[in-house]
Amino acid sequence: MQPTLPGIHIVATGHYAPEKVITNDDLSHIVDTSDEWIKKRTGIERRHFSEGEKNLDLAVHAARQAIEQSGIDINELGACIVATFSPDYFVPSVACLLQRELGLPEEMPSFDMNAACSGFLYALHTARGILLQSEKRYALVVGSEIISKVLDMEDRGTCILFGDGAGAAVIELAEGKQYVSYLGARGDDTSIVCPNADGVRHIVHMDGSSVFRFAVGTVPVCVNKILEKAGVDKDEIDYYVCHQANKRIIESVAAKLEQPIEKFYMNMQEYGNTSAASVPIALSEMNQAGLFKPGMKVLCVGFGAGLTWAGALIEW
Ligand code: UT7
Repeated sequence: MQPTLPGIHIVATGHYAPEKVITNDDLSHIVDTSDEWIKKRTGIERRHFSEGEKNLDLAVHAARQAIEQSGIDINELGACIVATFSPDYFVPSVACLLQRELGLPEEMPSFDMNAACSGFLYALHTARGILLQSEKRYALVVGSEIISKVLDMEDRGTCILFGDGAGAAVIELAEGKQYVSYLGARGDDTSIVCPNADGVRHIVHMDGSSVFRFAVGTVPVCVNKILEKAGVDKDEIDYYVCHQANKRIIESVAAKLEQPIEKFYMNMQEYGNTSAASVPIALSEMNQAGLFKPGMKVLCVGFGAGLTWAGALIEW
């Protein structure tokens, strides 16, 4: 029998969103929409838009909070990964700039990952893989997005959905902590696209209903695969933390899994869809609110452009 590899312990978390709040009513002065439509169809009430802050600034705030809360010596870090599809530059990566800003050690890999809204969970998985091959026990994993910069403010189908923000976690390789994941991808360049071709403004295009169908189909599959791999019953999960794209998607997942909606954390009303930042912002808020107790089982799921999906069962 294969020996069980160490899992992941989330030692500390942090999150940040720019100060400027854009309400649904604010958007109704820009495009033909209403607070009622947005709330009813998505659950979103507000989102935060950067005013001059870069992706890096958001990442620094969230990461600094997580590192301070962790109390670790930064020289014990063995990786710095930022999940994002909206970096400030193609190169250098947000992660390398974050490393410089926080004075993190040089002897570790620092890089960005783009798996869109599944990015944080891809990054968590990758960080664990790096730590398993390293002499270090800790990693800094961040999801940071500045999506307001790539929104078409004339397209009511997308501009009402997204927001800016960052979430971070300091993770530790932990013997005896269960970690089970399921990651996947399906090449698709029609459902959600943000082009970077010459002369084309970088704006997000989305076929909302096709992504909606993809999400309500994929998330329960992801959850069931993980439960099966882990040998855990769905009732044993204390919290489900899904990507915060749409309240109706989460409600549909809860119904399909026959799980009480109270187990599904939701904060899209405050931030909108922050892509790779959405799961770590939720984890950080929940942690700050004292919702997690040692030993609790938390099942996180992300889905988005790529198309990609990722789930992870984490033992708190
Ligand atoms: O993070 C990546 C993952 N992304 C997602 O998970 C997004 C998934 N998709 C969704 O959340 C939903 O599809 C949306 C919220 C984007 C759209 O909701 P929907 O219920 O699928 O609406 P729809 O696209 O089918 O549009 C229904 C109607 C259309 O009007 P007609 O053709 O019926 O007259 C739209 O033009 O609603 C209209 N509409 C709007 N009306 C007012 C679309 N956007 C708006 C709007 N305000 N902002």
